[in-house]
Amino acid sequence: MVNGENPFVPSNLQIFASSQFKSNLMAELAPDFSKVKRVTTNTLGEMKEHGVKISMLTAYDFSFARIIDDAGIDVILVGDSASNVMAGHETTLPITLDQMIYHASSVVRAITRCLVVVDLPFGSYQGNSKVALDSTIKIMKESGAHAVKLEGGKEVKESVERILSAGIPVMGHLGLTPQSIYKFGTYTVRATGETEANKLFEDALLLEKLGCFSLVLEKIPAALGGKVAQQLKIPVIGIGAGGSVDGQVLVMHDMLGITKEFKPRFLRRYLNLYDDIKKGVGEYINDIKTGDFPNEMEQY
Ligand code: KIV
Repeated sequence: MVNGENPFVPSNLQIFASSQFKSNLMAELAPDFSKVKRVTTNTLGEMKEHGVKISMLTAYDFSFARIIDDAGIDVILVGDSASNVMAGHETTLPITLDQMIYHASSVVRAITRCLVVVDLPFGSYQGNSKVALDSTIKIMKESGAHAVKLEGGKEVKESVERILSAGIPVMGHLGLTPQSIYKFGTYTVRATGETEANKLFEDALLLEKLGCFSLVLEKIPAALGGKVAQQLKIPVIGIGAGGSVDGQVLVMHDMLGITKEFKPRFLRRYLNLYDDIKKGVGEYINDIKTGDFPNEMEQY
């Protein structure tokens, strides 16, 4: 076998072993990760090694987390997007540590298989690594979650180091980092210019070197997402970062069509629950008003 050739492909067919072909083949030959009883940070690393894509979705409460875990998701992110979709705030900034713990503990009570990662909320880790560690320990103790996620690179280096030194797995988050929205000014695509792209790349390398087990890249050019994923050994999970990363994450309310107005290009809606729920509730109201509900079978 010539160096670099795919050992599973006959030598006369090596020319067809493009990177897409190789990753499809790797995924086909990989262990069946859907049979894994508990997804851990190590499982995610093994999935990347075998070219198996990682699925991640947000959840914030017991009932939805139970369905999502039962459907076979690899990772539930208890995102600080709870501030938007659960509490109705315009940004992720107002949500508190105790509110994140409330959401995370509800999710943890529901799941049996997936890994649960919790966002450290704004103000709970920036600037002071001791505060960062205290916040993280409180989340881990009071929610039972498995890992935390925080936004930023070099600026949060000390906080990342301190949390990791306590044995707590950390997921990084670069690109569009919503907790910095007032610095950015808009929610447009990040790192389109060379300077910001270079910084993102350096930050990604740094987070891996520090010991983060995974990295989220949000709303950046697909080519940059692919470059980072190729360079890093840890899994890179994208939201609007293209298809060449190691997995995808979406906000549950967006992919289920519970939110209506939010329509970024990266979002694929799988259901239209806003309209479905509205229709169901409308029928319920009508049945009450007309006296159709409850009928004889629905009473004692
Ligand atoms: O809070 C969140 O939902 C997130 C995802 C967008 C990655 O951080």
